[in-house]
Amino acid sequence: MMVRIRPGVPGDAHRLAEFGARTFEEAFGAENTPQNMAVYVEQAYGAQRQAAQLADPAVVTLLAEDGRTIAGYAQLRDRPAPPCVVGPGPMELWRFYVDRPWQGQGVAAALMAATLDAAAARGAGTLWLCVWEHNPRAQAFYRKAGFVDVGAAEFVLGTDRQTDRVMVRAV
Ligand SMILES: CC(C)(COP(=O)(O)OP(=O)(O)OC[C@H]1O[C@@H](n2cnc3c(N)ncnc32)[C@H](O)[C@@H]1OP(=O)(O)O)[C@@H](O)C(=O)NCCC(=O)NCCS
Repeated sequence: MMVRIRPGVPGDAHRLAEFGARTFEEAFGAENTPQNMAVYVEQAYGAQRQAAQLADPAVVTLLAEDGRTIAGYAQLRDRPAPPCVVGPGPMELWRFYVDRPWQGQGVAAALMAATLDAAAARGAGTLWLCVWEHNPRAQAFYRKAGFVDVGAAEFVLGTDRQTDRVMVRAV
């Protein structure tokens, strides 16, 4: 496993949009209706949207690349934390995806280390995230990475109101 992790730049918008939509579909498509998936993908992905995120000072994007191929990405953002998050200086780990060929290879751990470094560089004291209650692999990974479950939050996928677990760890 040899990946390089670097901050995203506006020129990554197209590739990131494609990668983000595809990995979201691969992660959650089998357990959700095509209609709900389509509504969410339409509202969350697309080159213009990712370009705006890459340019947004409240969002940090990290890309893990194997050569010129994206192996994974993480996005952090400044946004108010839910009440169950009580630590100082909270920052959200918004998105965290590793492509299938690189899962179980240590890429996720390397990306998480870079994510924590980026959060620390921004002055964050607490990293929090939402993970679907029916996503045991991600929950297991986050527990390995030091996150603990502190509560629940709602996530709306199309017309489906879902329950996420909220997890936190100190930076
Ligand atoms: C979540 C993700 C980043 C984790 O990266 P990864 O490389 O798969 O993580 P690891 O293999 O190091 O760790 C996953 C752990 O879950 C375990 N696991 C695997 N499948 C599992 C399952 N179905 N149920 C429970 N645990 C599972 C693994 O055994 C491993 O633990 P171990 O190392 O102690 O054996 C990656 O799987 C991913 O991108 N998934 C799809 C997108 C996603 O769900 N993102 C998170 C959105 S909140």
